[in-house]
Amino acid sequence: MERELPDGLSADRLPAHVAIIMDGNGRWAKKRVLNRVKGHEKGAGAVRTVVESCTKFGIPYLTLYAFSTENWQRPKKEVDALMGLLTRFLRNERKQLQKNGVRLTAIGELHRLPEEVRRELDLAMAETKDNTRLTLCLALSYGSRSELVEMVQRISGEVKVGHIEAADVDEKMVSQFLFTRDFPDPDLVIRTSGEMRLSNFLLWQCAYSEIFFTETLWPDFGESEFASILKDFQERERRFGKVLQP
Ligand code: IPE
Ligand code: IPE
Ligand code: MG
Repeated sequence: MERELPDGLSADRLPAHVAIIMDGNGRWAKKRVLNRVKGHEKGAGAVRTVVESCTKFGIPYLTLYAFSTENWQRPKKEVDALMGLLTRFLRNERKQLQKNGVRLTAIGELHRLPEEVRRELDLAMAETKDNTRLTLCLALSYGSRSELVEMVQRISGEVKVGHIEAADVDEKMVSQFLFTRDFPDPDLVIRTSGEMRLSNFLLWQCAYSEIFFTETLWPDFGESEFASILKDFQERERRFGKVLQP
């Protein structure tokens, strides 16, 4: 399929993997004297937009931080509303994802999600599993520290039964024991709402990601801002600790 690039973006230096911390739904609603849930509902529209932009621009991997392990500590009413919204989103978007060649995947402690969400997630993942245009990964009930703890437990279990030697553990193996084993590390991480922290998101995987913070609240995030962040990314020099022009 043809890619459609906005002016000023070059096709050859696009990030392969963009990860977004979608923050600011609550503040968006508060500014309008609305319930926080209204902000989450509006945020779902921004998800649709950014997924479409990735398919248009030809970005092959997009990870969206939608719900953290810490978010379970929010009031039950808000958690229930978020889970209901997620269920409806997955149900309503499945056809469109399929039509646009999007493969849906998810990372996180998925067993903690309500049955209804898991059912819709499984259906959408099964239906879209052969798509190749964009891999959309939803981080749901995701926390980087819990992912790292699980990795250590699993690797040490393998060592204990003699399948691997402790000395064989290397960076590649660690990556293979994370939820993200099938994805490249994010090239670009975007966080909306002006907060400048990672909030337990992909701590291992973001070792060399370019990070971009914007004041925009997630429900207001749109394609033109996304394109201008990608432009900024293309102008950055990624050195990975090396000296490029000695
Ligand atoms: C992000 O928006 C969505 C989730 C974390 C689920 P918030 O709900 O964190 O919105 P703010 O940060 O309170 O504005
Ligand atoms: C991070 O946002 C998690 C998601 C966007 C899903 P939070 O709003 O939960 O993070 P903090 O509390 O501001 O760090
Ligand atoms: Mg927040």
